[in-house]
Amino acid sequence: MSRVVIAGIPALIASMLLLPGHANAAQCSAAATPAQQTAAIHALMMRMTTAEKLGQLNQLGAQGSATGPKKQRLVGEAEIAAGEVGSFLGVRGADQTRRLQEVAVTRSRLKIPLLFADDVIHGYRTTFPVPLAEAGSFDPDLAERTARIAAVEASASGIHWTFAPMVDIARDPRWGRVVEGSGEDPYLGSLMAAARVRGFQGRKLSAPDSLLATAKHFVGYGAAEGGRDYNIASMSPQTLYDVYLPPFNAAVKAGVGSVMASFNEVDGTPMHANGMLINGLLRKQWGWNGLVVSDYTGVMELLHHGVAANRGDAGERALRAGVDVDMVSEIYAKDLPQRVASGHLPLGIVDASVERVLVAKCRLGLFDDPYRGSDAARERASILTAEHRHAARDAAGRSIVLLKNAHDVLPLSKDIGKVAVIGPLADEPWAMLGNWPGDGKPEDAVTPLAALKKSLGEQRVAYARGTGLLGDDHSGFDAAIAAAKSSGVVLLFVGEGPEMSAEAASRSSLDLPGNQQALADALAATGKPVITILLNGRPLSVGKLADASSALVEAWFPGIEGGNAIGDVLFGDVNPAARLAITFPRTVGQVPIYYAHKNTGRPPSAGEKYTSKYIDVPWTPLYPFGYGLSYTAFSYGDLKISSTRIMANRRQKVSVTVTNTGMRAGDEVVQLYLRDEVASVTRPVRQLRGFRRIHLDVGESRVVEFELGRDDYAFHDAAMHDVVEPGRFDVFIGGSSEATLKGSFEVVSTR
Ligand code: NOJ
Repeated sequence: MSRVVIAGIPALIASMLLLPGHANAAQCSAAATPAQQTAAIHALMMRMTTAEKLGQLNQLGAQGSATGPKKQRLVGEAEIAAGEVGSFLGVRGADQTRRLQEVAVTRSRLKIPLLFADDVIHGYRTTFPVPLAEAGSFDPDLAERTARIAAVEASASGIHWTFAPMVDIARDPRWGRVVEGSGEDPYLGSLMAAARVRGFQGRKLSAPDSLLATAKHFVGYGAAEGGRDYNIASMSPQTLYDVYLPPFNAAVKAGVGSVMASFNEVDGTPMHANGMLINGLLRKQWGWNGLVVSDYTGVMELLHHGVAANRGDAGERALRAGVDVDMVSEIYAKDLPQRVASGHLPLGIVDASVERVLVAKCRLGLFDDPYRGSDAARERASILTAEHRHAARDAAGRSIVLLKNAHDVLPLSKDIGKVAVIGPLADEPWAMLGNWPGDGKPEDAVTPLAALKKSLGEQRVAYARGTGLLGDDHSGFDAAIAAAKSSGVVLLFVGEGPEMSAEAASRSSLDLPGNQQALADALAATGKPVITILLNGRPLSVGKLADASSALVEAWFPGIEGGNAIGDVLFGDVNPAARLAITFPRTVGQVPIYYAHKNTGRPPSAGEKYTSKYIDVPWTPLYPFGYGLSYTAFSYGDLKISSTRIMANRRQKVSVTVTNTGMRAGDEVVQLYLRDEVASVTRPVRQLRGFRRIHLDVGESRVVEFELGRDDYAFHDAAMHDVVEPGRFDVFIGGSSEATLKGSFEVVSTR
């Protein structure tokens, strides 16, 4: 047992509390009222030693869960029994979690259950499309559904707490982590954040199939300078409040139970020491009382940031800032006891964090049932069911973006003769699973090659890998060209390996890596139509690839059913409707490039040299935010704005009639953008303020109505007040951020 220090409690009472056989404090029930829960937790805390309290704040990682230089050591059951661990990262599986939980609830003095956390990001065993892809569905209900399934599976595996959703706004595709979030836009990002929180946490956190969700990484991580992971973020306070914070606010409003601090500093203060934003904004101003967890070794990294002289300093700064749980630095557990004992760190600060950890355990129902009904039988029955697979195929189909379709080469006829299936990613299961596959297994993933062989028959598929992802190997070109020549059409699968995006995977180039472009050019030279399918985790500068291809399909990392879903799109069983949740630049030199940019004093103009642009590349992107094609066509008309002059607090109604004018039924993503024409500070040229994904049959028309209100006009002014300024707003509605149907109205009061 660890050294016993019960601060503030006389030794005699303390020794009574420590008598063996004293009832454990498993009295905090999820079904109790908040007041009863608090009382139970306070009673429990009365009996805890300082070491046990700091143990609750200590999170250790399982072997193999390292996402940083600190390698995991094997944690013995003795440490759990000694009350030195409050939670684990990356321990998964009903058997394994039950084994460790049993140690905690039978052999530790106070029998406090452990929390098992994991990165359940885009599915657990049933892997769904990566979050950036799913955001492009413009379908928050879909995001909620896939998060729900992930929670059902992971909770059966003994997991209580997921480190998702990642809600970082990302406008620099060099940053590998763009793949983990919802892209560049705070409005879309906020809706997706809230949907995923609802999905993970379910209706009741105590339900055995709910997970505690984590909005991460708080905050500004996506603004990493140079797109280099872990780098500093410098931004105006307006940008912080109007761009990076809204998705966190949305997650908080959706009831998110935890938030993770980010690795970066914001304007000189590392987030793990940023009391102003964590305790100040998040907790006090927003009134949120959930659990803040550090990122992996984030507390220790305060030393490298140069704001702490030693481990004790680092721990104290983080805890004082409001970071409750120390993920794997082991600083709270090892270096803070002395600070408390010396009176340097008031026990009250430790207590506030311990209380938040215990409240989370209580709300999850862990004191009622530390196993939450997780056992090997439930695990087997809940994981990778036919229904989940079906949902994965649907999710992938709804997330695939059609970028080019010259002469309507797609969809392909099912009677097409032979197809050449070519490329380094045609048969790569990991490129289906993506970068945070959870417990996804390559053997569960359906690759495009496998799917096409199954649907067309082996004899109609000529497969050649062509080249690798990296390097300049040409040796497979001849076989690829021969396969193309023997077929009616080429299906070319290129892009990035999953390890090329996500954490610690920044790139300085956005070009297709290796020899893949040369392969595409060689195939195009055969004269056969080349349909290129991209599998990747970030926008790529693929103008040349588009030129070499008759059609270009962005499939991202589509999940375990990716191969089938790609087949569904290529052969027209699914009419693609997803859009880009992030802008595709023509070249890395244009970065950062995003649709909601400022106008500048010299907006770009072709006829005038001295304007904001480049001399060697157009200022426009390759593909803008919100862009994506369909196998059918839609027209927009009859824009109606209910009031030409309106008070900010009244609901403004804007409607448009959308018609399917093409030859197939399909979904359209109707998007509404606003522009504040004149304000006291500069405003973006347009901002997404509404969208609706609708289904229209051939020839069908629908009136789509949007409601606007105060939040849609508000921004932070120079004094950082959240204001609405009266004046004219332009409305743009259409199928992408380049929508041209335009109206306007005037906001006449600020309230
Ligand atoms: C570091 C990552 O930044 C974070 O997103 C993740 O949740 C943790 N590692 C745990 O794996």
